[in-house]
Amino acid sequence: MTVETIATQPFQDQKPGTSGLRKKVKVFQRPHYLENFVQAIFDTQRDREDSPLVVGGDGRYYNRQAIQTILRIAAANGCTRVLLGQGGIFSTPAVSHLIRKHEARGGIILSASHNPGGPEEDFGIKFNTPNGGPAPEKVTEAIYTATLHISRYHLLDSPDIDLDKLGATFVGDMRVDIVDPVSDYADLMEQLFDFDQIRALFKSGFRMRFDAMHAVTGPYAREILENRLGAPAGTVVNGIPLEDFGHGHPDPNLVYAKELADYLFGPDAPDFGAASDGDGDRNMVLGRHFFVTPSDSLAVILANAKLVPGYRSRLTGVARSMPTSQAVDRVAAKFGLPCYETPTGWKFFGNLLDADRITLCGEESFGTGSDHVREKDGLWAVLFWLNVLAARRQSVAEIVREHWRLYGRNYYTRHDYEAVDSKAADGLVNALRAKTTELPGQRLGSYTVDYADDFRYLDPIDDSVSDKQGIRIGFKDGSRIVYRLSGTGTEGATLRVYIEAYEPDPARHDLDTQQALAELIGVANSLAGIRERTGRDAPTVIT
Ligand code: G1P
Ligand code: ZN
Repeated sequence: MTVETIATQPFQDQKPGTSGLRKKVKVFQRPHYLENFVQAIFDTQRDREDSPLVVGGDGRYYNRQAIQTILRIAAANGCTRVLLGQGGIFSTPAVSHLIRKHEARGGIILSASHNPGGPEEDFGIKFNTPNGGPAPEKVTEAIYTATLHISRYHLLDSPDIDLDKLGATFVGDMRVDIVDPVSDYADLMEQLFDFDQIRALFKSGFRMRFDAMHAVTGPYAREILENRLGAPAGTVVNGIPLEDFGHGHPDPNLVYAKELADYLFGPDAPDFGAASDGDGDRNMVLGRHFFVTPSDSLAVILANAKLVPGYRSRLTGVARSMPTSQAVDRVAAKFGLPCYETPTGWKFFGNLLDADRITLCGEESFGTGSDHVREKDGLWAVLFWLNVLAARRQSVAEIVREHWRLYGRNYYTRHDYEAVDSKAADGLVNALRAKTTELPGQRLGSYTVDYADDFRYLDPIDDSVSDKQGIRIGFKDGSRIVYRLSGTGTEGATLRVYIEAYEPDPARHDLDTQQALAELIGVANSLAGIRERTGRDAPTVIT
């Protein structure tokens, strides 16, 4: 049937970013809200229409209901086949993999990533294109525009299907294959990493804990770590996806994965710890009494790629988002590999990956990945580390310290000022932008400015330009300050200040990060006039 609708609410108050649409569950439950968005996808995305559509989510509250609606709309729009994860479950990287494996027409992912779930919390939906990656801006723009003019959607009047029963079923003429969400992804991991070597590591008594944070990676980690790699039962904790993530905030960092961090810094700490987020694309890795920053993790991964079968002989280049520390640049330089600096957001890696300009990429915000899919991939990063640990048989701390001795250490911190008045935040950035021309050559404390600009990215593949991506101030000794406003914050503006200092001297590699960066933090604060302009004495969050 065709339902008349009004050009609703979907985006009139929020334009979706490439991470799709994220709203409170209550908003998604409004009449026509979800339906309009899904219809807009079918009205605008017509590539490979005869191929299957991959559908699944992170299991949060409203996942199951949303999937039933999506299936009815897909069927009414002539979609011929859907690949659905059993129980409505798929991690984001697993969807990306399946789209590529089946040359699908795309995927619909239900998740609000690391945001909390539950009837009062967040839900989200996004469309991934046939290359497996998040929709680029021109696609999200097209979907957005369609929702502004929508007057009808098509919906098949058919009963709910059983989401838990493996095998083929039909919604009208549309075939729905309900598949095990884990096995294809686990097989892909087995092709990339040396599972025999990692199995031997676990056999030798190596202990780890993986905290799935009651989110989607539980079943994936159980199958891969415990079943296929022989880690002892109980290695994976909080491994059953819950609709409200156990009232938690499924974001793998030292604040929200505190239980894991406390364990890794405690008296009974195992050799290795890791966590992933709601939909499985972020990762945090820890050694015994040791935290690995995401920026260092990317550098160590590149430096050790020759130990990993899937990467040993096929590295073409590497990319990092602009605010990510320059630690990886030094490894790339040593290896003679190109190193690209892209704006914040995974979508900017897509073209470079598709064109095989890069093999590995990462962001400081706990995102690491490679060309095996087109999303960042939490478990992939954990397995990469396990492979390196199995090959080197050293501790995480030893590996990172040795890395610093070889390449120098990039001390790095991010200071977030959340829910700042939007006007004040814009004023702060505008004033900095105006200063950039006069800064080069100036001395700020013991630092001399080398360059200052508002980052502008020219995509080397499609020549598109993205400007105003953040203020960069580089110093002669390789240190750097970056200021940018978050694109994902929900309340007012979030100012992010990224501070990085390069330290070649191994005798100075064991300082506390905030202390090592104290002078530069002072420079960053006074240069931007953070206190005067925002009224804030201290950041809301320090990572
Ligand atoms: C944040 C991170 C960014 C990441 C994005 C989506 O965006 O900083 O690296 O790609 O979330 O997970 P921001 O709020 O800084 O715009
Ligand atoms: Zn995520």
